[in-house]
Amino acid sequence: MTLYAHIVGWGKFAPAKVLTNDDLSQMVDTSDEWIQARTGIRERRIASEQETTASMSIAAAREALRVADADPAKVDLIIVGTVTPEHLFPSTACLVQDALGARQAAAFDLSAGCSGFVYALGIASHAIEAGAYEMALVIGAETLSRIVDWTDRRTCVLFGDGAGAVVLRASKHPGGVLSSILGADGSGGELLMLPGGGSRFPSTPESVLNGMHHLHMDGRRVYRFATKIMVRATRQALEQANLSLQDLSLLIPHQANQRIIESAARGLKLEDGKVFINLDRYGNTSSASIPMALCEAVESGHVKRDDTLVLVGFGAGLTWAAATVRWSVPLPVATPPRWRVAVRWARYRWAAIRRRALSALWWLIERLFPPKPDRKG
Ligand code: UT7
Repeated sequence: MTLYAHIVGWGKFAPAKVLTNDDLSQMVDTSDEWIQARTGIRERRIASEQETTASMSIAAAREALRVADADPAKVDLIIVGTVTPEHLFPSTACLVQDALGARQAAAFDLSAGCSGFVYALGIASHAIEAGAYEMALVIGAETLSRIVDWTDRRTCVLFGDGAGAVVLRASKHPGGVLSSILGADGSGGELLMLPGGGSRFPSTPESVLNGMHHLHMDGRRVYRFATKIMVRATRQALEQANLSLQDLSLLIPHQANQRIIESAARGLKLEDGKVFINLDRYGNTSSASIPMALCEAVESGHVKRDDTLVLVGFGAGLTWAAATVRWSVPLPVATPPRWRVAVRWARYRWAAIRRRALSALWWLIERLFPPKPDRKG
């Protein structure tokens, strides 16, 4: 039996704190005029001290599960696309898995720069089509404000924080993720990177002083790469799905720069209204940008049942990814029965209680049965 991976739930989280271009012009030598003209960005969201990649992922995932009316205990796979994980390890996906009470889910992070979400969507949909999993949660989440150099005007004006998530479910009805193109060219790795904190340049006082824990980018070269690859990947994704540009209802591109998006739209000869843009309010949120844009496109009525969407991104690696999606959920979605909302809430509460109880138990065991000192000689 042929299986298809359908998007059945979606959710996003954006921190409440807004940082405008005028705010930035108080911090570095820039202006609202320059930022809007060169990027299209007007403002971006910045995570509070309490908000992290995991907390935003969890919020977006809960919303996606609510829309899908899905039981978190039945999720089989969780992938978080991110370049700003909660820690180097454990993965952010494992923290999400624990917080959701998704006890039977495999969980891992995926690092593919701003293409991370579409990469994860491609991998998860292949796993579902192969019959390995029934339900997957695919998340893109970033706290870029923590790695941006707030004294570097070339980069700090571009980025923002946020998270987006979708629930994918197996179905025998044709539709869902129809194709995915995943690509990489590691020769461009130096164009966009976080040099420090890994095995090449471990964290030292010098690495901190030398700014190696900040994002570094050659904006012009990334720009050139982006304008070409967005067009090529979109065409390839449609071709792989046996569709043409005439079949495309809406392009949801990575929200890096309005000029890049407009150049791609020109290259694809797309009519006005066929490209979704929300970067004016969020800036570039890397892996989170496409799922956040998808959520807003759905919520604002830009997506209808049976529409053909292409999600396309590019980013650090260098990487690129595009997926063709046939939208199969009738909109607006029905309100789930109250008892199922209550069951989900109980799962989240129980997951939190379990986590606290387990750590208290370990604390007690260590005090009751302290490890015996090593006997030498
Ligand atoms: O998610 C993937 C990650 N990255 C991207 O997608 C980024 C792709 N690149 C870009 O979006 C654009 O290259 C930027 C927005 C980063 C820069 O735009 P640009 O039109 O390529 O500007 P530029 O780098 O060529 O800089 C032009 C001038 C320079 O001054 P000089 O050397 O001509 O005197 C910069 O120093 O603009 C200056 N500049 C600024 N001026 C005011 C650079 N940043 C700023 C700024 N405010 N924030």
